[in-house]
Amino acid sequence: MDINSARLIYFSPTQTTRKIIETIAHGLLFAEIEHVDLTRPGTTVQKQAELHDGLAIIGAPVYGGRLPVEAVSRLRRLKGNGTPAVIVVVYGNRAFEDALLELRDLVLEAGFRPVAAGAFIGEHSYSTDATPIAAGRPDAEDMRTANEFGRMIRERMKNTRSLDGMSPLQVPGNSPYKEWAGLSGVSSVVQEALCARCERCASVCPTAAITVQDAVTTDEAVCIKCCACVKTCSVGARSMEDPRIRQAAERLSENFRERKEPEMYV
Ligand SMILES: Cc1cc2nc3c(=O)[nH]c(=O)nc-3n(C[C@H](O)[C@H](O)[C@H](O)COP(=O)(O)O)c2cc1C
Repeated sequence: MDINSARLIYFSPTQTTRKIIETIAHGLLFAEIEHVDLTRPGTTVQKQAELHDGLAIIGAPVYGGRLPVEAVSRLRRLKGNGTPAVIVVVYGNRAFEDALLELRDLVLEAGFRPVAAGAFIGEHSYSTDATPIAAGRPDAEDMRTANEFGRMIRERMKNTRSLDGMSPLQVPGNSPYKEWAGLSGVSSVVQEALCARCERCASVCPTAAITVQDAVTTDEAVCIKCCACVKTCSVGARSMEDPRIRQAAERLSENFRERKEPEMYV
């Protein structure tokens, strides 16, 4: 198949998913790469009719062994029109459980043709200096693997005459998917004395939970605990202080030290 362009479609609050699928796209050596960033609320997906021209690389992080609810609702708006798709989940060195299967099912339902899949590792959203969890991932080795994965997909697509002859992509996971509700009544907090009112936290929040006026307010009911605001704050004014999250981070830091490696399915 002659494919020359890639469309990167992703939900990536702390940017690790974006980094990985960008690197996969570089390995494909396509001249044209377009981004459809679904992380911010209200992103509209344009030029849907043209999606059949190239390869879609669709990525999302793992939350509780599943896809984030917001990623699911935003990805559901896409129309694949038979476009071949590489699907990628990124997780914080604990486990990806049913997330890759959920993503495969979702893109199939949207009309894409999944041709390859990967589960990569990214620094855990709750990693801190005191409780490091996959700190610094993806690192140079992960990036090499992602790039090589892109090359492998390119070769495979070159040698594929038609998607119709391809066997359906198998990925690990169970259906019905595991249940995961997340924590309610929790959000990151701001130290008003440090806050510079730069509004970067509000600008990166995937659910528009933060309002910066005289005071900075965060809507706990809307916050998805992704830590985009914590990681983007240049003065360290935002943090996740809830004891349940801090204890979870301690457990993860203690129990998941052993480095996991990316897994790829073609
Ligand atoms: C609410 C929440 C739940 C998470 N659940 C998992 C999980 O089940 N397994 C895991 O290994 N990592 C988990 N993580 C870590 C993320 O998958 C990881 O940090 C990922 O790299 C974030 O992707 P992003 O940088 O594209 O936002 C979770 C993170 C958050 C915020």
